[in-house]
Amino acid sequence: MEEVVLEDVYKIYTVGMQKVYALNGVSLKVDKGESVAIMGPSGSGKSTLLNMIGCLDKPTRGRVLIDRVDTSQLGDDELTRLRREKIGFIFQQYNLIPTLTALENVELPMIFRGLNVRKREERAKELLEKVGLEREMDRKPTELSGGQQQRVAIARALANNPAILLCDEPTGNLDTKSGEIIMEILTNLNKEEGVTLVIVTHDPAISGYAKRIIRIRDGKIVEGDT
Ligand SMILES: Nc1ncnc2c1ncn2[C@@H]1O[C@H](COP(=O)(O)OP(=O)(O)OP(=O)(O)O)[C@@H](O)[C@H]1O
Ligand SMILES: [Mg+2]
Repeated sequence: MEEVVLEDVYKIYTVGMQKVYALNGVSLKVDKGESVAIMGPSGSGKSTLLNMIGCLDKPTRGRVLIDRVDTSQLGDDELTRLRREKIGFIFQQYNLIPTLTALENVELPMIFRGLNVRKREERAKELLEKVGLEREMDRKPTELSGGQQQRVAIARALANNPAILLCDEPTGNLDTKSGEIIMEILTNLNKEEGVTLVIVTHDPAISGYAKRIIRIRDGKIVEGDT
C-alpha cells in the first residue's frame, strides 16, 4: 500500500537575486514497510526531499500525500499531529537535549502527547532496552558515545510508534562499527516491525542495507523512482 506519494514536487529557494531549485519536479511513491536509501552528491537535494516526506517543510509546488491525505490541505495543528503520530526523525547530529538524561530525552515526545508519568517511563525504559542502553538510561548526552547518543535518538524517534522512520545521514558522525550497530537496529525495525524506512546517505555501505536505492542529482531523481 502506498504510504508516501510525492507528485511533481518543487522546492525553490530565493537567495538574493538567485533561484535555487533544491527539488526540481520530484515524483515518488514509497509503500508501507519498504526500506529505501536516498543517495546523491552534496547539495543535490537529499535533505530537502526527506523534509518534504516528513512534512517538516512545504513544497513550492506539487503535492505530498501521506496515507492518501493531501498534506497541503492540512492546517498547522493537523500537520503537527500527523507528524507526531506517523513519523519519526533521526538526524546526523542526534539533536538530544543536553540537560536531560537518556531516559528523559526518550520520554519527551510522550509528554507532548499527554501520556502519564508511569506509562511514559515504562515505555522509555523498554525502548532504551531495545537499543541496548539499559545501563546508560540515567546518563546525559555528554556522558555517552556518539553511537550511544544515536541509539537514544532512535529510541526517542520510536516513542510514539511511528509508521515511518526518516533518517538523514544517521551514521554520518560515527565510526564504522557504531554505524553498523545503528544500521542493524534500523534494519531490524523494518524487517520485524514493518516500519517504513527512508535513509539519506552518501555511504554505499549503508545503502546496501536498503531494498531500493533512489538517486538524486540537481534536485531530480535520476534512478529508483516508481
Ligand atoms: N534554506 C535554504 N535556503 C537557500 N538554499 C537552500 C536552503 N536549504 C537548502 N538550500 C539549497 O538547496 C540545495 C539542496 O540542499 P540539501 O540540503 O537538500 O542538499 P543535500 O543533498 O542534503 O546535501 P548534503 O549531502 O550536503 O547534506 C543546495 O543547493 C542548498 O544550497
Ligand atoms: Mg543533507
